[in-house]
Amino acid sequence: MKYFVTGAAGFIGSNLVDRLLLAGAEVVGWDNFSTGDARFLEGAVTHPGFRLARGDNLDVSALTAAMHGCELVFHLAANADVRFGPEHTGKDLEQNTIATFNVLEAMRSNKIRRLVFSSTGSVYGEAAIIPTPEDAPFPVQTSLYGASKSACEGLISAYGEAFGFEAYIFRFVSILGERYTHGHIFDFHRQLTEHPTWLRVLGDGTQRKSYLYVQDCIDAILHVAGLGTAAKAPHHTQIYNLGTPEYVQVKDSIRIICAALGLSPELRFAGGDRGWIGDNPFIFLETKKIQATGWKPKLTIEQGIVKTLRWLAANRWVYERSA
Ligand SMILES: NC(=O)c1ccc[n+]([C@@H]2O[C@H](COP(=O)([O-])OP(=O)(O)OC[C@H]3O[C@@H](n4cnc5c(N)ncnc54)[C@H](O)[C@@H]3O)[C@@H](O)[C@H]2O)c1
Repeated sequence: MKYFVTGAAGFIGSNLVDRLLLAGAEVVGWDNFSTGDARFLEGAVTHPGFRLARGDNLDVSALTAAMHGCELVFHLAANADVRFGPEHTGKDLEQNTIATFNVLEAMRSNKIRRLVFSSTGSVYGEAAIIPTPEDAPFPVQTSLYGASKSACEGLISAYGEAFGFEAYIFRFVSILGERYTHGHIFDFHRQLTEHPTWLRVLGDGTQRKSYLYVQDCIDAILHVAGLGTAAKAPHHTQIYNLGTPEYVQVKDSIRIICAALGLSPELRFAGGDRGWIGDNPFIFLETKKIQATGWKPKLTIEQGIVKTLRWLAANRWVYERSA
């Protein structure tokens, strides 16, 4: 199999590339390095099965040329940070929805019919049903990121219907682990490195979220894509929530982080029930559908947090990079 991975230099994409190469696959990694980092591909670039193609999803002709000869596309490149939508209102539309349209068009031109797409639990907005199953209604969006990913999902299923694409859409909870470069643990660990005696916390700390360790996320993707269930699904599209069957409060997360670092900082809460516009105070996805395929996560949320902290502590350069 020859795979095309968009967002190959990113947190999840680079871990996926390493796993595909380990399994003996040929991989073309595509990235514009806007948030990705060449250091995440240091191992991959020495592998004979890997080819790095630098480029931008908005350049559809370069994208089409780079994809030539591949059989399955893992489309992970995106503006992956939900927080700043109101500060750059066109970015999610451009980097997520238009970029996904370009990926679909490049696949169509190359007659590639298999796609794995990284969507998000943010598409549910503030879900009325918790834990939230895949078929829960989500008529209202609360973030531009969620809205743009929901539009991507619509395009993907329409291409499935029109062109027989076999598509796997995974709605991730927040992902943790090695090469983690954005999210609350990144913020908390950076703050505690800079000022170990106090910690600024967005919201009131009661927000409840679910998390998944990156290798568990990749196990699930590879397991499900390997089953080929989308080929027989209506509209050739399968949607899976991807998370752990547990959640933690931000305060629990702080307790785990402080215990691991041996710190007791003063907590300075910004207040309110959410951290930012579009922050959903309770994200907990039902994962029965994906667990019924035989996959289950190996790590608990607490174990995922501790692994993330260890990686951040050993790779402090990520803070300079994002400063
Ligand atoms: N990390 C999470 O917690 C999480 C949760 C839900 C969904 N997701 C989704 O998973 C995917 C990967 O997320 P991540 O956390 O690895 O993010 P990331 O920012 O680390 O990776 C995204 C990669 O895409 C690249 N990229 C961005 N725009 C591009 C463009 N126009 N052309 C080419 N390359 C481009 C970036 O340089 C980066 O390497 C994203 O689609 C994201 O929305 C992530």
